[in-house]
Formats: sequence, structure tokens, C-alpha cells
Amino acid sequence: MGDEPHSCGIQAVDAADGALAGRVGADLARRGVLVNELSAGILVPQVVLVVSADLAEPVLTTVDRLADRCGRILVVAGGGGIAGSEMIWRLLACGASDVLTWWGEESGTSVVSRLRRWKDIDDTVDGPDVRDQLVGRSRAWLGALRRLVEIASFTTSSLVLAGESGTGKELMARLFHHLDRREGKRDLIVVDCTTIVPTLSGSEFFGHERGAFTGALSAREGAFAAADKGTLFLDEVGELPMTMQAELLRVIQEGTYKRVGSDNWRSTRFRLVCATNRDLMAELSAGRFRLDLFHRLAANMVHLPPLRERRADVLPLFTHFLSGEAGTSLDLHPAVVEMIERRDYPGNVRDLRQLASRIAVRHVGPGPVTPGDVPTEERPALGPSLVEQSSDRLFDRAVGTALQEGRGYREIRDSVGDAAVRLAVEQADGNLQSAALRLGVTDRMLQQRCAVDRGNENGRLIGSASPTDRSRPEAPRSSP
Ligand SMILES: Nc1ncnc2c1ncn2[C@@H]1O[C@H](COP(=O)(O)OP(=O)(O)OP(=O)(O)O)[C@@H](O)[C@H]1O
Ligand SMILES: [Mg+2]
Repeated sequence: MGDEPHSCGIQAVDAADGALAGRVGADLARRGVLVNELSAGILVPQVVLVVSADLAEPVLTTVDRLADRCGRILVVAGGGGIAGSEMIWRLLACGASDVLTWWGEESGTSVVSRLRRWKDIDDTVDGPDVRDQLVGRSRAWLGALRRLVEIASFTTSSLVLAGESGTGKELMARLFHHLDRREGKRDLIVVDCTTIVPTLSGSEFFGHERGAFTGALSAREGAFAAADKGTLFLDEVGELPMTMQAELLRVIQEGTYKRVGSDNWRSTRFRLVCATNRDLMAELSAGRFRLDLFHRLAANMVHLPPLRERRADVLPLFTHFLSGEAGTSLDLHPAVVEMIERRDYPGNVRDLRQLASRIAVRHVGPGPVTPGDVPTEERPALGPSLVEQSSDRLFDRAVGTALQEGRGYREIRDSVGDAAVRLAVEQADGNLQSAALRLGVTDRMLQQRCAVDRGNENGRLIGSASPTDRSRPEAPRSSP
């Protein structure tokens, strides 16, 4: 990684802050930082310094406006007014990465140190190691990714990855190991804590000596030894039995353990990364997770956002998976795009990946992915409102035509009544009793009505009523 600081944009909050922004910009330029004033029409750079003599409401508005358009915002305030801590927390919540007070020379050094660290992290995030594996540029995802990169590359601490199922915890654990800068780093050893059987877990973690128990025909190395000088990934650490939690604590603290059936202490040094889709705080309160282990592990915790909190990543992830399955990139019909963007993904990225592969299986030819490629059960449900709307439209059209033909209210009403009687009798296969039930009228009324219709030459269809015919009983209403 280079020692070069990030170039940055600079924005004075209002005209009165221009002089301070000028001093900050000139100081940074002397230190080799490329600084550009932000102006309309210019692409917002990855890092922006927002400069203001005091930290008041307009700074908050400026940060809020820029937060979605640039990667990081550093607020630089004049030394005159010391802001209350609440305003500083609000600025951070709004998207600022940090808030510094400008005291001159020394502050310039602080700004440049941050710009260097951020450049290093962003170069990794934008580099092939990450970009080829992990798709996503949404604010929520980038925030988690940057934090992971920083912990992996600039510390030797352990890490807990928390997140719902399918949010990418395993992928991130592998990236964590990959980015670890330890000299002579060895392997990543994965232990799935959901499969740990308490009675066998000793051997699984510590290994055993030959003859330590029935069936121990030869000595075996456990996960702690295999992870020496490498990384131990405890997947679903929330499932780890309490007894194992205590054992794990000792190994993490002292780096020593004994094989099952041996009295010799052995040493191991590994970096630990754990994943969980449980709320570890809730597990603590329920007494299912040890407080001392929690404090050891959770110093660095990265929450991976569910897909519903990073909707901007849905389409890029889908096209990534689709081209992976199809072996080439494919265009998408707009209706398919709309369906993918609107769908819920309770299983998060895994869910989306499965959808892409089911669509890829159905797709043939070089053309775009069309709505017919979407499996039937994935097609958007046409809610009853849509069906109702279309039948309502047909009905409106028929009545509109009757009006245009000069037919009046009574005639149209009778015609609709006739149609209802005819259809109900037809649907009931001529059974007047069940047709009457359907229509919500008495049998007698329907019999009378049918007798009159039989008396007329052919019965009548909608629109065929004679305006002078008033001899029939009132057409039945839809409900009694
Ligand atoms: N950002 C991403 N870019 C590309 N693929 C991703 C991304 N995140 C997750 N995936 C893919 O989604 C699937 C699920 O990811 P992963 O197994 O890492 O999730 P998980 O959080 O460990 O899930 P679980 O809790 O169910 O074990 C994998 O196929 C993974 O390759
Ligand atoms: Mg997993």
C-alpha cells in the first residue's frame, strides 16, 4: 500500500467560511494533497472536506446533501466556536466520518493522516481482491466493507460478523483472512459450530492422542493446532456449547491447550473471526453466551446489512450472478428489471443468487432475459384489484355503448337484470333454486321472471329489451 493521501474536494459552508477553507486548502496543498473546490457540474470526489467557522445547522444540511454522493466527509470547524457534543454526534449520524477543529499546523497533520488511511482502505475496496468477489456499492454495504478492511489490514484483533442468513458473512470472513497482513500467515480453518457435538468437541478443537478414547486409533490434530499462525473461523458462534465457550476463552487468552489424553501444554496463535446470525446481546441476557467471551470477541463487530437495507445493490448483484451462470452478460427486459427490484429477499443475497440461477436455467439464446424466463411462481401476483379493474372497464364500456345508442336508465337496468338471470340459470344448469340462491332472490320471484321471459318470443339479451315492455316483474337485485 502506498503512502499517498487521498485527493479531496473542499466545500465552504457559506461565503463567510471561504477564508478558512482557503487556509485549510493551502496547508493541505503544501503537504502534497490535491485539493479541488467543489463546484456545480463537477463529479463529487470520494472525500470532501466541509469547512465551517462554527458547527451550526447549515453544516448539518451540507453534510446531509453530500452524504449519498461521496464516500467520506470530514468536517473541519474553525477553532473559535467549540460545538456541543450533540451537534458532533448528529453530524456523524448524518454521514460525516469525523469532525476536527482546525488549529493550524497540527490539524493539517491530522487531516493528512486520515486521508492516507482512507486512501489505503479505499484502494483495497476498489482493488481486484474485493471487487471480483463482492458486489455492492450501496452506502450500507460500503460502510461495512470499509470497516472490515480496516480491522483486517490495520489491526491484529479478532472480529465478529453479525448479520441475517445469506448476508455474506462467510464471504467476508474469507476476505478478512485474505487481507490480514501478518507475516508468514497460514491457513483459514473453518469450524461450523452448529455441527459441534459437545461430547466430541474436545477432540474437534484440541485434537487427541492415540488411544485417548475408544476409536482413537491414531493421534489427531484439532482446529486450534491447524489454525496456528493462521485464522480460526467459528461459523455460527452463537451455537457454541457453554463448556466450549470456557475452553475457547482460555486458548484465546493464553494461547495454550492440551490434546485430549495428553498432559503436555501446546501453544497456538491464531486470529479469530466469528460469524453469527443470532443477537449475541440477547444470548448474553438469556445466559446462553458467556460475558467474558463476548467481551473478548466483540471488541470489533461488523454488522452486515440485510438486502432490504441495500436495495441499490439488488440489480448489480443479480446481473453478477446471472452472467456467472450464463457465462456471458445478458440484457434484461424492463419488466424483469422491475420484478427483480420489487421482490422481497427474506434469504438475502443467497435468495437473490438462487433466483438468478433459476432464471438462467430457463433462458435460451443470445437475446435479453424476458418475462417468460421468470419461473411461474416468481411472477408478480396480479392482485384482485387489477382483475377487478379490467372487468370493471369492460362493464363500463358496455354501459357506455348502450348510452351512446340512446338507451335510457330503465332499459339498461332491465338489460343488466336479464343478463344476470340468464347467466345465473346457465351456471346452475337450469336449476332455478340454486340460481335464485346465487342471485339472492326468492325462488318464486325467479320462476315468475322466467315465465314472463318464456312468454316473450326469445327471451332477451342485454341491449335487446323493448323500452315499452313493462309487463315483467322487477329484475332481481344483486342482494335481497
Ligand atoms: N456482496 C456479495 N457479492 C457477491 N456474492 C455474495 C455477496 N454476498 C453474499 N454473496 C453470495 O451469497 C451467498 C450467501 O453468502 P454467505 O454464505 O457468505 O452468507 P452467510 O451470511 O454466511 O449465510 P448463512 O448465515 O446462511 O450461513 C453465497 O453464495 C455468497 O457467495
Ligand atoms: Mg454462513
